[in-house]
Amino acid sequence: MGSPLDNFLNIFSKKAEDSAVGIDIGSSSIKVVEIKKRKDRAVLHTYGEISLGPYAGVEVGRATKLQPTQIVQALSDVLKEANVSTRVGAISIPMRSSMVAIFQMPVMDGKQLAQMIPIEARKYIPVPIGEVSLDWFVIPKNPNDETDDKQRKFVEVMVVAIHNDVLSDYSNIASTAQLQTSFFEVEMFSTIRAVVDSTDSAPVMIIDIGASATKVYIAERGVVRDSHYINRGSQEVTLNVAQALGINVDFAEKLKRNYGFNEPKQDQLLKESIDWVFDPVFSEIKEILLDFQRKNNKIVSRAVIVGGGALLNGLALKAQSKIEIETVNGDPFSKVESPAFLADVLRQTGASFTAAIGLALRKLQEMG
Ligand SMILES: Nc1ncnc2c1ncn2[C@@H]1O[C@H](COP(=O)(O)OP(=O)(O)OP(=O)(O)O)[C@@H](O)[C@H]1O
Ligand SMILES: [Mg+2]
Repeated sequence: MGSPLDNFLNIFSKKAEDSAVGIDIGSSSIKVVEIKKRKDRAVLHTYGEISLGPYAGVEVGRATKLQPTQIVQALSDVLKEANVSTRVGAISIPMRSSMVAIFQMPVMDGKQLAQMIPIEARKYIPVPIGEVSLDWFVIPKNPNDETDDKQRKFVEVMVVAIHNDVLSDYSNIASTAQLQTSFFEVEMFSTIRAVVDSTDSAPVMIIDIGASATKVYIAERGVVRDSHYINRGSQEVTLNVAQALGINVDFAEKLKRNYGFNEPKQDQLLKESIDWVFDPVFSEIKEILLDFQRKNNKIVSRAVIVGGGALLNGLALKAQSKIEIETVNGDPFSKVESPAFLADVLRQTGASFTAAIGLALRKLQEMG
């Protein structure tokens, strides 16, 4: 929606400045963030979010499955309402539309790798390789690894596959919405860029709690090392609350957003509904953590929770008690400059905009 930033920052902006918009099309809402480059600094210009529920005839906060034309409509609406001033940007691809595999390859030169990876990837990507577009990179070796480069026999590569149909849908959405997008990026990479520091040497866990799903990544020095998709998200809490209290979904959504774990009175139903959904999710995350630590012989230093679901009052603390490592709310707006009067709002709501910020940062960087 329109933000107080518009007028404030427009005073200072000149049209010639580099500006980029990051667009995260989630299952329940679209998030957009526009940042500008000013003297090598990234400065927030505006941001906005639009719920997709109304476009799909369901309540706010619920996951939707929309046709590309409906997405274009919602996207155009949010770009307008948030006063986004550029059409140069980038869009994220949801994890559920991508396939990720990590495997070892014998050491060989870059050209050979490029030839061999699609062949090797067939073993890991469960669809015909001709139907997907592949992206890959060699996972940098651990700086503590003392092995001489000449002695290394294998490198680890991460391969990401996106179905060509999905890419063509996104290209159509971008061109119909008159956007100039030079890349689409799987949301995992955008999210990690926005909250992890590449100087962070210990592995960090990032937990993205969306409406339909929870995504878990482990990154080391800014590079993703592990990713998981858990089929449960925050919308389930709302649906549970509605059922448990015999109230409609809109009202249940409001209760969830207003109170979370800070439920008033002696009432326990909201807390119980949250636990019912998230206890198993956190147990699974704990397993992922232990498994990673065991396999890599490394300690994950902390967890960062992001996504709209992370805004639930008291959830970070709950996650911390279950996962048993320090768990904090992500603060992606700290990567960009913004006016002081917005600091509190941005810290409180920023987690929703993580992927959108990560996309805009990459795009701006590419613009040189
Ligand atoms: N202030 C809040 N308190 C608690 N929950 C919230 C709050 N704001 C949003 N949510 C919940 O967060 C969810 C939306 O999160 P998010 O916007 O990250 O999802 P999405 O990106 O649309 O979905 P997905 O990533 O699963 O495709 C909704 O279920 C919504 O109810
Ligand atoms: Mg999301």
